[in-house]
Parts: sequence; structure tokens; C-alpha cells
Amino acid sequence: MIKKVLVVGAGQMGAGIAQVCAQTGLSVLLHDQREEAVQKGLQSIEKLLSRAIEKGRVSKEEKISIQDRLAPSISLQDAENCDLVIEAVVEKMEVKKAVFRELDAITPKHTILATNTSSLAITEIAAATNRPNQVIGMHFMNPVPVMKLVEIIRGLQTNDETYNQIEELTKKLGKVPVSAEDYPGFVSNRILMPMINEAIFTVYEGVATVEDVDTSMKLGMNHPMGPLTLADFIGLDTCLYIMEVLHEGFADSKYRPCPLLKQYVQAGWLGKKSGRGFYQYE
Ligand code: NAI
Repeated sequence: MIKKVLVVGAGQMGAGIAQVCAQTGLSVLLHDQREEAVQKGLQSIEKLLSRAIEKGRVSKEEKISIQDRLAPSISLQDAENCDLVIEAVVEKMEVKKAVFRELDAITPKHTILATNTSSLAITEIAAATNRPNQVIGMHFMNPVPVMKLVEIIRGLQTNDETYNQIEELTKKLGKVPVSAEDYPGFVSNRILMPMINEAIFTVYEGVATVEDVDTSMKLGMNHPMGPLTLADFIGLDTCLYIMEVLHEGFADSKYRPCPLLKQYVQAGWLGKKSGRGFYQYE
């Protein structure tokens, strides 16, 4: 039974994951190697909960008890009495492997080690530990408190017991699990990123303007957001990185990143976060 959770990495994703876990009644430690990141993460949760009160979705008492279940951590040693660790540090294999190696040494035998990676191989991360059968992918979507989907990814050696516990927890968190095998891009990014890349090719080849590509997909396909607007939101560097993972992982030219995408990233046009991507932002 999963009762106590440590979330490693208190960035955008880690803070969101900690929040939904605490809202579900779990006891949660939010850990980061930088103390200011932990404080920032807890502040962002505080803000979201205050807004939820204004909208009548959470009562003042609920907010207090959610915050009571959340505690800061700046030592990974705090994982020593947790049933589950969810890792959401930077998307770098070497960093994730080092964190998993350390967690494997700190946590009790029964602890499940999950990663929120959006593109790295679960099997490889799991192989850094002595418990690859208890390592699993738990891929939340951004923003975590809002988005319903969680992709659950089995590494080659993940056992059924681990899978079942994580599936059950996902449902308890009010999310909808989908099951994916451990191949590049899992399900959502494997389908989404080639679509975004094709939208960029459409602009690159002069078939249509940025605005017309987005309008086609919004009004013609009922997508809530055009693919180029969405790419700007995700970050063009992230889009390029995931296309490279698909291209390399499948060794198939259909995943080649569009030269225009590469060029924008070279220029530092990374989308909304840098003020310019396919659109300009204030
Ligand atoms: P972020 O950059 O906002 O946060 C990462 C945090 O990890 C930082 O606060 C950093 O200080 C901390 N960190 C780095 N190395 C650490 C270590 N060794 N120990 C402890 N903390 C460490 O990143 P973000 O966007 O939250 O992404 C985190 C993970 O979630 C990545 O694997 C990413 O691929 C994945 N993801 C991101 C999504 C997104 O839309 N941003 C969506 C789904 C998954």
C-alpha cells in the first residue's frame, strides 16, 4: 500500500505531482537539490490552492490539510521511509541514473521507483538499480493538476505487482492511466511530435503560413490549439530533442527533424519561454 511518497525535482512537473499526491491524502516530501527550488515549488502549490478556493473547488480546511501533508526535503536520505519515489529531475540520462542509483541504496526493499521522463528509456534507468523489476515510467502531462492522462510505461523487467500498484495509484489520483511499452516516445509523444514536425515542414516548404496551418488544425480537426502554437508552448528545444530521440531510436527517416525547427532552436527562438518561436510573445 502506497502511503508515503517522495518527489525528486521540484520544478514545473515535480510540484504538480506533489500537489495531486497530497490532494489524494498521501503524505508527500518534495525534494530538490536546490533549496530555493523546493520553496518555489511549495509556493506555486500554495498559489494554485488559493485560486482553487476562490473558484470554490477546494475549501479553506482542505487547503490546510493538503499543505499539512506536504513537506520540503533537501536530503535524498528522506526517501528512507517512503513507499514510492517519483523522479522529475532534468531530462538527462546520466543525471537520472545517478539519482536512481542513490535511491536504490537509500530506500527499503519494497519501495517502487518511478520516473516522469517524457523520452528516456525506462529499461536503461532501471538497469542502474538492483531492483529493475520495481522501476516504472509514470508520465504525467503538463500542467499536472489539470491534465487527466498518465502514461504508465513498463521497462523490460518491470513486474506485474509494480505495474498494478502504480495503475491503482494513478486512478486514486483522479487520473486516467494508459499502458505503454518502453519504446521511443511511448504513445503520446510518438504521435504528437511527428504531427508538430510535419506542421513545421508545411511552413518550411511554403505550403501555408504559420497562422493558416494552425487554423486548419483548429477549425478543420477541432484541435483546441494549432500545432505550431502548441510547439511554442512546449518549447521548440524540447520538440527538437524528442524528434531526435525518435529519429535515433527507430533509425527511420520519417522522424527526421525539420531543418526549420533546428534553425529556430539554433537562433534561441524556443517558443513562449524565450519570447519568440513561431509567434512573438510579450
Ligand atoms: P524543471 O527544469 O522545471 O525542473 C527540474 C528540477 O530538477 C529543477 O528544480 C532542478 O533543480 C532539479 N534537479 C536537477 N537535478 C537534480 C538532482 N540530481 N536531484 C534533485 N533535483 C534535481 O523540469 P520539468 O519541466 O519539471 O521536467 C522534469 C521532468 O519531467 C523531465 O524528465 C521532463 O522530461 C519531464 N516532463 C516534462 C513535461 C513538461 O511539459 N515540462 C511533461 C512531462 C514530463
